[in-house]
Amino acid sequence: SKKIEDLPDPFKMVEKELQPFSDSIKELVSTDQPILSMAAKHFFEKRHGKRFRPTIVQLMAKTVAACTPEGKQGKEWEWSGASEIDMEGGVVTSKNHQGSEVWRKQAQLGQIVEMIHVASLIHDDVLDEADTRRGGEAVHKLYSNKVAVLAGDYLLARASVLLARLENTAVVQIMATALESLVAGEIMQLKASPEELLQMESYLKKSYYKTASLICYACRSTALLGGHAYGSTVATACEEFGFHMGLAFQIQDDILDFTAAANILGKPALADMNLGLSTAPILYAAQEFDHLRPLVKRRFKEKGDKQTALEALYKSKTAMNKAKQLAQFHAQRAVDALLRLPQSDARDALLRLTYVVITREK
Ligand code: FPP
Ligand code: FPP
Ligand code: MG
Ligand code: MG
Repeated sequence: SKKIEDLPDPFKMVEKELQPFSDSIKELVSTDQPILSMAAKHFFEKRHGKRFRPTIVQLMAKTVAACTPEGKQGKEWEWSGASEIDMEGGVVTSKNHQGSEVWRKQAQLGQIVEMIHVASLIHDDVLDEADTRRGGEAVHKLYSNKVAVLAGDYLLARASVLLARLENTAVVQIMATALESLVAGEIMQLKASPEELLQMESYLKKSYYKTASLICYACRSTALLGGHAYGSTVATACEEFGFHMGLAFQIQDDILDFTAAANILGKPALADMNLGLSTAPILYAAQEFDHLRPLVKRRFKEKGDKQTALEALYKSKTAMNKAKQLAQFHAQRAVDALLRLPQSDARDALLRLTYVVITREK
């Protein structure tokens, strides 16, 4: 069977296309309020992060261009967002995709998603009182909480304007729902009852809302912009991929919170526990060691709780492995969804990216 390294490199494949990304996003977020521009631009220039999301959107755009829209074969193109020049027998094909109006809108969606992501991180660091992000000081540390709140709001406002400019009501609706989910996930985390704190199901549900939703809605939107119908098998496969990819991503993130050092992560380590949150590794340890359960339920707020929980986690022979298997399970489901789409280099690059997500070390 094929080796992962034989598949196309996802980041290389979109490198050139993401190049103008930073330049145009700088323009997109400029305002006549210097402090807001500074705070916002900061995150798109020097500290641009892994760019997972725009990479996924870009690759997904290519992947869906290689799929024939259902019911569109030989039919007149009806979707208003596409110009005739894009079409070949009514279909945006891989051949005429790059440089087309459809492609431009999908690239714009990638930028919108990254803006939403960065806005949520700026706010998240205020909520979590985390002082570092992407290897440097968080916006609220560089400036103040007030500036961080406004910078996040501003980015969100800009993202909304750009979203409206796509002139696709279904996509606006879907992405607005993604925003709603992000906030719902944070609230769920904040308000979790002692029982919920112990439940794997609540943990996964919260992870869906706060992480997977953005990428899964972005993937469906990419398919829609590509001319695929809302309920089409293509759009559904895209969304399913995003759902499982997002969960795998978050579970891996939660594992790294225990296993990686802060200087590698570019943000604080052991952050979840310090916030009183239990993620997959601790939840599995608590299934094994009864004495952890009351600690989880009281959010590790008594002296020595965190130490006790960490010792149990390191003592457990299975907890960390089970967490890794959970990430692998979702990665496999993401792969299964991709395999329902026709083979293309972009699809294969997404397969490889799925592997990268569960083996990444930062
Ligand atoms: C990171 O999680 C945070 C999120 C995935 C979402 C944060 C969402 C909000 C603050 C709601 C407001 C949303 C918008 C769009 C302004 P984490 O704290 O587990 O990860 P970390 O280790 O990277 O900090
Ligand atoms: C840090 O993202 C944020 C999180 C770990 C929580 C939110 C995650 C998502 C919304 C991502 C879903 C992503 C995929 C790929 C399915 P990060 O580690 O990507 O931060 P960076 O942008 O600074 O690299
Ligand atoms: Mg948080
Ligand atoms: Mg955080």
